[in-house]
Amino acid sequence: MSAQPPSPGLRFGRCCVEPARRRVLIDGRPVRLGGRAFDLLVALVERRERVVSKAELTGLVWPGLVVEDSNLTVQVASLRKALGSEAIATIAGRGYQFVATLEPAAPTAPTVAAAAPAAVAGAHALPAELDSFVGRGAELADLAAGLDGGARLVSVVGPAGSGKTRLACRYAWSRLSDWPGGVYFCDLSGARSAAGAACALATTLDVAPGADDALTQLGHALAARGRCLVVLDNFEPLVREAPRLLPPWLGRAVRACFLVTSRERLSLEGEQLLALGPLEPAREGVELFVARARARAADFVLTPQGRSEVERIAALVDGLPLAIELVAARAQVLAPAQLLARLQERLRVRADPRAPSARRGTLRAAIDWSWSLLSPWEQAALAQASVFAGPFRLEDAEAVIDLSPWPQAPPVIDVVQLLLDKNLLRAGAQFPAGVHGPDGPCFWWLLSIQEYAAGKLRAGGAVVGAAASALDEGAAQQRHGRHFAATRGSAEALAAVDRHGGAAR
Ligand SMILES: Nc1ncnc2c1ncn2[C@@H]1O[C@H](COP(=O)(O)OP(=O)(O)OP(=O)(O)O)[C@@H](O)[C@H]1O
Ligand SMILES: [Mg+2]
Repeated sequence: MSAQPPSPGLRFGRCCVEPARRRVLIDGRPVRLGGRAFDLLVALVERRERVVSKAELTGLVWPGLVVEDSNLTVQVASLRKALGSEAIATIAGRGYQFVATLEPAAPTAPTVAAAAPAAVAGAHALPAELDSFVGRGAELADLAAGLDGGARLVSVVGPAGSGKTRLACRYAWSRLSDWPGGVYFCDLSGARSAAGAACALATTLDVAPGADDALTQLGHALAARGRCLVVLDNFEPLVREAPRLLPPWLGRAVRACFLVTSRERLSLEGEQLLALGPLEPAREGVELFVARARARAADFVLTPQGRSEVERIAALVDGLPLAIELVAARAQVLAPAQLLARLQERLRVRADPRAPSARRGTLRAAIDWSWSLLSPWEQAALAQASVFAGPFRLEDAEAVIDLSPWPQAPPVIDVVQLLLDKNLLRAGAQFPAGVHGPDGPCFWWLLSIQEYAAGKLRAGGAVVGAAASALDEGAAQQRHGRHFAATRGSAEALAAVDRHGGAAR
């Protein structure tokens, strides 16, 4: 037991910064942050009453060294990944400002670890929520009612970008203490077979998959954890395998429950379904739009006229959260009325009565719209980067993205930053739990955007006009394969090849 009382810190949202201990906690649990990122955070927090220029920040974080602005950009991106994108605002042409509301943290605030030791191990496998969560009160209550009421398999089903993953994570974070055996988040988007799913779950649970009958072994491993929750995210590629996977796990681990997200239902006995609808445009849609617009421009204000335009934007994209976020990412340069007009034009162009799902068509149109506003080199970078099925580092992007047909294009690091600004890529301080990768900042995709970009890469020439030759899918995959083999070692290269059915990704 320590005689030292915990040092007091500063709290904002679910985060607590403890400068004396050089650590940051989210929901009471320490977050891994690099030393420079931590120094940057403290520099911004201490100067929160004003905008801090890039020059001043680099002087504070790298004292005595001459460093490029890009280093700062990467550290800001790491902080946003770790703490949420809304705490630090970019003030165009001036620098950065810490804009979250701070309050002193109780010095003895109990941590989740203290409250429920067993839950902590599982919670480590749950991705941090990086920005504010909006609405969905009824859906969260339904999930809680289902799982509290004895359901052991609940599927959140809805179209791409409707917020299934986000809802499942929100539920899990908000109810950690209900699951003393842990909460385990397993992303299945890379798995194409029952064996692939078993491998992914074994990584999540941190158990070594045995040579034979991995599914049974996993059932035993789960049974040993008692009452636990397993979130199986992106189940849709495995729907046909569901009868082979879930019944053995449910049968062996009788206290384990499964929360599945999928674009299609599993159709298993005992499955409880939560069909996820749109955000309600006037309230939740506007709230999400404003939150994301403010994350990019702290001075974004919504006039009454602007509110009705944003409401119409949210309705136009069918209340789809991902589409709302993509549009809001442009609010720094276009007023709501301009965004609305351009979007209306785009959706008229894309209206196709034969589309299989109206909402899928809407998301596609929103991504199309965002794509159409990119420069040719941003388009090329996005398309080429689609060869990364999972998180990747800046060095990986630089090895794979070829912008040589555009001599006027900025360096890859700047193009990556531009894609982050437009919400087409996401950034984090480190590779997520359960994904192998070196330490340090990384980038990743939302599935819908990666699928879209991969489609553009496959379409090759049709997308970037004159310099179409740069968009050669085979060449991008070759660069990726060579780089992967050279930098990540054979085990990971083999795992990647296995995941992608032998393609050089
Ligand atoms: N209720 C919400 N509050 C705030 N942001 C949300 C909400 N729902 C979704 N989002 C955001 O919208 C985007 C898409 O959500 P998410 O990834 O959960 O969709 P999905 O249904 O899982 O999509 P996919 O089928 O492609 O996996 C994410 O950036 C997510 O953070
Ligand atoms: Mg998802």
